[in-house]
Amino acid sequence: MVDVGRHPNIELLTLSEVVEVNGYLGNFEVTLRKHPRYVTEDCTFCGDCLERCHIFTEDEFNENRALRKAIYTPFLQSVPRQYVIDDKVCIHFSEEACQRCVEDCKKHAIDFSQVVEEETVHVGTIIAATGIKPYDPTGLYGYGDSRFPDVITSMELERMMSPEGPTKGEIIRPSTGQAPSSVAFIQCVGSRSEKEGQLAYCSKLCCPNTVKNTLLLKERFPELETYVFHNGIRTSGKRQERMFREARKDGVVFVNSFPKITQGQVLTFFDPLVDQQLLMRKDFDLVVLAIGIVPTSKEMSQLLGVPLDKRGFIKEENQLSPTSTPTNGIYFAGAVGSPSDIKQCIEQAGNAAMQVSKHFQRDTAELSPIIARVDLEECTGCGKCSKECLFGAIRIQDKVAVITEAACRGCGNCVNSCEFDAISISNYDEKQLKAQLKAALQEPEDKIIVFACHWCSYAGADFAGTSRLQYSPNVRIIRTMCSCGVTADLVRYTFALGAPKVIVSGCHPGDCHYLDNNMFTKKRVMKLKEGLVSKGINPERLMLEWVSASEGQRFVETVQKMEQLRVDEDEIKMTKMIFSEPGKRKSRKRVQK
Ligand code: FES
Repeated sequence: MVDVGRHPNIELLTLSEVVEVNGYLGNFEVTLRKHPRYVTEDCTFCGDCLERCHIFTEDEFNENRALRKAIYTPFLQSVPRQYVIDDKVCIHFSEEACQRCVEDCKKHAIDFSQVVEEETVHVGTIIAATGIKPYDPTGLYGYGDSRFPDVITSMELERMMSPEGPTKGEIIRPSTGQAPSSVAFIQCVGSRSEKEGQLAYCSKLCCPNTVKNTLLLKERFPELETYVFHNGIRTSGKRQERMFREARKDGVVFVNSFPKITQGQVLTFFDPLVDQQLLMRKDFDLVVLAIGIVPTSKEMSQLLGVPLDKRGFIKEENQLSPTSTPTNGIYFAGAVGSPSDIKQCIEQAGNAAMQVSKHFQRDTAELSPIIARVDLEECTGCGKCSKECLFGAIRIQDKVAVITEAACRGCGNCVNSCEFDAISISNYDEKQLKAQLKAALQEPEDKIIVFACHWCSYAGADFAGTSRLQYSPNVRIIRTMCSCGVTADLVRYTFALGAPKVIVSGCHPGDCHYLDNNMFTKKRVMKLKEGLVSKGINPERLMLEWVSASEGQRFVETVQKMEQLRVDEDEIKMTKMIFSEPGKRKSRKRVQK
């Protein structure tokens, strides 16, 4: 933090919040709200004001277990090295209009005239790294956090163990102020639970943190009776596993059980395998609840327009780009993306910085040539494409759809959503795909057309080939960027050309390289199948299958399965006739004529 504050190329904005973000890669407009510090840069951090201030409040940094003054520094290493005045507490802002700190400041650095200011900055790229919040276990049934004074959270223990903490590093029972002779840690408090208000995921940090704390406690108090009640200790990697072994060697007792705190610090715990079988009842002087972490991504997601995953963390673009969001130019690092320890946060920060730096190596950004194009004569400005674009790349302006090229990913979902044939994907437009189909179906007998998405299924087919796996020579593959780009018109056209069987294939759910666009594919294929049924055509002739890049064998099995389907000539002829007029989309030009 200190290095960041001193770096000539980094402008550190403290007491500031982001209130709005607009724009796209290379042209983001960020509106900031800067809160007043009431202390100018002339402050030398001498501490005279601090001595004179007589207003106290709870110290959030010390988990409200200590007091701080109305003029304060949030924590010792905070940057910049200046005091700040808490205007919610300082009585200068109430009727009393206190001036004590002003009177004692020799540098005249106190400035009560400062107000909230808004500023807009222009940036080319953004990295979200807003971290996490600790889970609040208050009121969790069975753990007594809010009822018993000697039940504390792991965060409170951290502050207690710190030399700058509320007890100056002394470990005490809050109820007596005496050192404890026994301590129990309870793991997974509010974590790995599907219950409402609890966290369904493993926070990943709590187990190593507890093991680290037991080692520190044992080092200082070898006689301290230390128990850890856990739901399976998770210490991955060589360092953490070594610490776990050391803790056991030092006499820390690890018990696989969920205890309940019944009264005071008495823990009752049960055999996890035999429900309700009481194993032990034991009294502890101090109980530490190992709490999980909660993402701060919700606010970020709303501001940046980037999606969240099911757990509320920022969703990565895909597994190969772990710090990229689906929006061009917006990246993230650290625990906003998933529970991460310090080492992982640093690795991700490095990765995100590399991603950003590649944009600064040139004056212009390199965009993919595969992007959406709008036919202005056909577009009616209905806005459906704009609503379905998960990347926010389409807006309606002057009654037509306008593509923000820097934001478009070229997935093709908009092509499918357009009822007027007004959007196409350059280099993958329907004309080109139809030309490929025509060539592939010159002799349509027994052919299986496979629409394969570029990222997974096409790579899966490729893998089958390079692995020398055998499959029918009747298979013809048509590549699209995403399975969501396979339009109903394209499928009908394929049948109209006499194709007996069609497979639409894409990435597995959750793996689509364009967020969840393959879920649109699923819906559309289901609808197409219903359409086939209504026309008396066997819906089995259209198959949807997820194939990943490493599933060459699955690709082979999929086409083999399709090969076994018998389709007689009369049915093919009938299908051809039914779909002989493909491309019956609405047309503004046609409507006007
Ligand atoms: Fe494969 Fe979307 S990229 S289904």
